[in-house]
Amino acid sequence: MKKKDYLKLLETIAKHDEYYFEQTKPRISDYEYDQLVLKAKKIEKEHPEWAFDTSPTKQVGERTTKGFKHVSHKFPMLSLANTYSPEEVEDWVKRVQKLLGAEHFKMCMELKMDGTAISLLYEKGQLKRAVTRGDGKKGDDVTQNIMTIASLPHQLKGAHPPKELEVRAEVFMPKSVFHALNKEKEEAGDDLYANPRNAAAGSLKLLDSNLCAKRKLDIICYGIPDPRSADIVEQSAIHTYLKKMGLPTFSEKHYGIAKSTEEILNFAERIEKERQKMSYEIDGIVIKVDALKNHDRLGVTGKSPRWAVAYKFAPEQEITVIKDITVQVGRTGVLTPVAELKPVLVAGSTISRATLHNEQEIERKDFRIGDTVIIEKGGDVIPKVVSVVKSKRSGHFKTWKMPNNCPACGSIVERAEGEVAVRCPNKKECPAQNLRRFEFFVSKNAMDIDHMGPKVIEKLNAAGFLQSLSDIYRLTKEDLENVEGFQEKSVENLLASINASKETTLARFLLAIGIKYIGAGTAELIAQEAGSLEGAMKMDYETLCKIDGVGEKGAQSVVDFFKDSHHCLEVKELTELGVHPSVAAATKKKGHAFEGRTFVLTGGLESYTRSEAAELIKERGGRVSSSVSQKTDYVLVGEDPGSKYEKAKKLGVKCIHEAEFKKLI
Ligand code: IVH
Repeated sequence: MKKKDYLKLLETIAKHDEYYFEQTKPRISDYEYDQLVLKAKKIEKEHPEWAFDTSPTKQVGERTTKGFKHVSHKFPMLSLANTYSPEEVEDWVKRVQKLLGAEHFKMCMELKMDGTAISLLYEKGQLKRAVTRGDGKKGDDVTQNIMTIASLPHQLKGAHPPKELEVRAEVFMPKSVFHALNKEKEEAGDDLYANPRNAAAGSLKLLDSNLCAKRKLDIICYGIPDPRSADIVEQSAIHTYLKKMGLPTFSEKHYGIAKSTEEILNFAERIEKERQKMSYEIDGIVIKVDALKNHDRLGVTGKSPRWAVAYKFAPEQEITVIKDITVQVGRTGVLTPVAELKPVLVAGSTISRATLHNEQEIERKDFRIGDTVIIEKGGDVIPKVVSVVKSKRSGHFKTWKMPNNCPACGSIVERAEGEVAVRCPNKKECPAQNLRRFEFFVSKNAMDIDHMGPKVIEKLNAAGFLQSLSDIYRLTKEDLENVEGFQEKSVENLLASINASKETTLARFLLAIGIKYIGAGTAELIAQEAGSLEGAMKMDYETLCKIDGVGEKGAQSVVDFFKDSHHCLEVKELTELGVHPSVAAATKKKGHAFEGRTFVLTGGLESYTRSEAAELIKERGGRVSSSVSQKTDYVLVGEDPGSKYEKAKKLGVKCIHEAEFKKLI
C-alpha cells in the first residue's frame, strides 16, 4: 500500500460523505461505505504516521448546512461502532465483559431506527430546541421543523417536569409516507429519494416548516445523555421514563434485556423476522450496557462509546448493475422484461434477477442495459428495481425495446389497445406459456402440489408427459421411473403429493385453471357465492358482477372461460381423474359473528400477516374484499392505514383495530 492510494481512498470517502450528507443522495450503499471506512482504518493502524486529525475516518456524521443556526451540543452526539455477524457481537460482548469484570452481564437491546439523529431540549417541560447531529459537536437548529411532528409533544406530561431535559431521538419517515412522496416526485419528474432515511434527513433541512409538515415525519426517543438528571441508573429505565413524560419511545416488544449473548442473538433474530412488517425502516439493533455507571467506566473510543454497539442487518436496499434485460413469457402470454443483475446480497438473500414489469415502466424509469441501479426487497420479498443512479451512466447506453416476436415461439406479439401488456397470441402451442401454466397450476396458492417445482415440470415436459393440465393426474410410477433424475423415493413423493392435491377447495381450483383476471381473492369470493364447481361454471355475468369484489372485467372473463369447450373438457377430465374441488365447509366455524360479513384490511398488523388475517376471517364465514364500499361491514385498521381508512370513515363503515379483532375471533 502506497500513501498515495491511502489518500485517494480518503478522497473517495470524503466525496461519498458529500453525496450523502450535503446532497442527501448517496451513490453507494451503507455497506459499501462502511467497507471503505474499515479499509481506511486498517491502513491507519498499519501506518499511523499517515493518519491525520481531519481524516474522514475521524469525522462524526454530517456537517452543518447553510440556512440554519448552528448550535453546540452540551453533550457530544456520538456514533456507534457496527457489527455484522453473531461472531462480531460475541467478540464485542467478551471485550466489554473483560473490561468490566466477568460478573457484569445485563445488556439492553433496542431497535436501530434507520432515520436521522436529533437532540431535543425540554426546559421546564417545554420543547425549546431541536438540533441535528452535525459534526457531533455542533448541529443545525431545526426546531421549527421538528415541531411539525405530530407524535412529539411540545409539553412534557406531569406537574413537575425537570428544569432541563435533553433527549436523544431518531427522526424517520414511515415507509408508506416515503412511497407516496416518491410517487409524487416521480409524477412531477423530480429526482427521487433513495430511501426513507435520506427523505427524513432531506425533509428536516427544508427551510419552510410548512413544507416539512407535509412530509409527515415521525420520531422515536431512545436516550438521555445525562440520565442522572432524571435519577435513572439503567438504560432500560430510560424508556419507561420517556414514556412517563409522554414522549414517543419503543413499545415493549421493541426493546429488552439480555443476560447472555444467546439472548441478544435471539432478540436480533426475532426483530429481523418482523422487520418487513414494521411501518418504518430499521437497519439492525443496538446493544447497550444496561448499568449506566458502567458507561462512565467504559468511556469513549474515537467517535463511538465502548458501552454500545450496533448489530446491523443485511441492507434491504442495494446498488447493482443491470447486465442484461431478458423477456419472460407468462402463463397468459404476457411478455415481461426481466433485469438480469450482477448478483448482490439484499436482506439476507442473493438477488440476480428482478422484474421490470413492462416496456412503459422501463421507459418511464429510463432503465438501460449497463445501468447502475438501486434495488430493494419489497414487502412481499419480490425484488424490485427502484431507480437508476444516473451519475454512474458512463458512455452511451442504448434504450431498450420490447421484441416484436415471442422469444419462446416466434409468434408476432400483440399490443391490445388501452393495455400496457404485450402478449404472445399463441395460446395453445407456445412452449413458454404451457410451462408457466403448469407451474402456476401446481403452485402453493393453487393446487399446492409439493415436489413439482419448475425444474421437475421442465423435465416432465421434455419427456412429453405434459400436454394438458389433466396429464398431471395421469402420471404413473412407470412413467416417472423412466425420467432422468427420478429415484424411487422422489417418484413416491411426487405421486403422493399429486394424489393429496385431489381434495382441494373450489377457490384453489378456480385459481389454478388460470382464468384471466381471477386472482386468489376473487376466486375465493366466486367460490363462496357459487357453492360448487357446477355452480361456478354456470354463473352468468350479472350474478358474478353482483359479488362485492368482482369487477366487470373479471366477470366477463369467467363467463368466456367456461364458454370455451376446450376449457370445459379440461375441467371434466380433471374431475374424472379424481380432482374434487369443494367449498371448504368443514373448516368453517359456523355461527360466528363474521359469517356473511365483508371485511377490508388496511395497514400493517402486529400479530398477523394480511393473508393470515384474511384466512381467519374466511374460516369464520366472512369475506375479504379489496375495496371499501357501502357493502363493507368492517374495516380492519392496522398501523399506517391507507386511503381505505379515510374512505371507511367517510362512508361511516365500522372500523375495528387489531385488539378488537382479536377479541372478536
Ligand atoms: S444510541 C452513542 N440507540 O444510530 C450512542 N442510536 O450509528 C448514540 N440510532 O446517531 C446512539 N436507533 O442516529 C442509539 N436505539 C438507538 C438508535 C440509534 C438509531 C442511530 C442514531 C445514531 C446512529 C449511530
